[in-house]
Amino acid sequence: MNLTPEIREKLWSFASRTSFQSDYLIQVQEWGKKIDPKKYFPPHVTELWLELGSGWGEVAIQLAEAFPNTGFLLMEKKIDRIKATEKKRKERGLENIRYMTLNFQWFFSELMETEMFSTVLINFPDPWPKAKHWKHRLMQEEFLTNLHAIIKPEGRLLFATDYGPYARKTISMFRRLNHLFKGSTEVAFERPNFPVSFFENEKREEGKRIYYLERTKVTPLGSY
Ligand SMILES: C[S@@+](CC[C@H](N)C(=O)[O-])C[C@H]1O[C@@H](n2cnc3c(N)ncnc32)[C@H](O)[C@@H]1O
Repeated sequence: MNLTPEIREKLWSFASRTSFQSDYLIQVQEWGKKIDPKKYFPPHVTELWLELGSGWGEVAIQLAEAFPNTGFLLMEKKIDRIKATEKKRKERGLENIRYMTLNFQWFFSELMETEMFSTVLINFPDPWPKAKHWKHRLMQEEFLTNLHAIIKPEGRLLFATDYGPYARKTISMFRRLNHLFKGSTEVAFERPNFPVSFFENEKREEGKRIYYLERTKVTPLGSY
């Protein structure tokens, strides 16, 4: 993401000075200092998942309940959605969820340590259907390259969308990036035994086809 100094300052300010305060929030503090997310989770947490655009948190809450030894880092820019997720986390007494309130398109290359996450989950990112808005889409080659760096060797990237053209563009992108990500199936239309958010459920009830993409990180020799 190419940033002017003004936009960079704005994004930094948003990530470092959010109105939401909680012991479960990870806040960036020092410019240039990379974050090691493991440090923010209890010692019994042995692996980390990252969810980008966690929305109201239904999926992460169910996963965190099912896998108490996995830590779930949720990135979401809408504070009301983080607050709603935090309410659910507290009611269930889950200790394996943390939040970051930031614009994740900018975040990775500058602030996150490499090879941190065993799974990255991207469910229903905004599809930006008009061609003139495609530049705002999350799934871009530069973004996927940055994402590759923060995924552990053999770690997974799970992506879901109900928007066919976005799914097809992403599949083509993964074909081009086959030195970074591989998958045994290009696309699936079911994802059994996986939690479903309110948003996903709505799309299913409307009769929309859901495209699920799963890729595994390819680790180039001598990298990182
Ligand atoms: C369509 S919703 C899907 C939410 C959730 N993943 C689900 O499946 O129900 C997309 C979410 O991504 C968040 N989002 C979009 N762009 C973002 C960005 N650049 N940084 C952080 N969050 C973002 C939105 O605020 C919204 O909650």
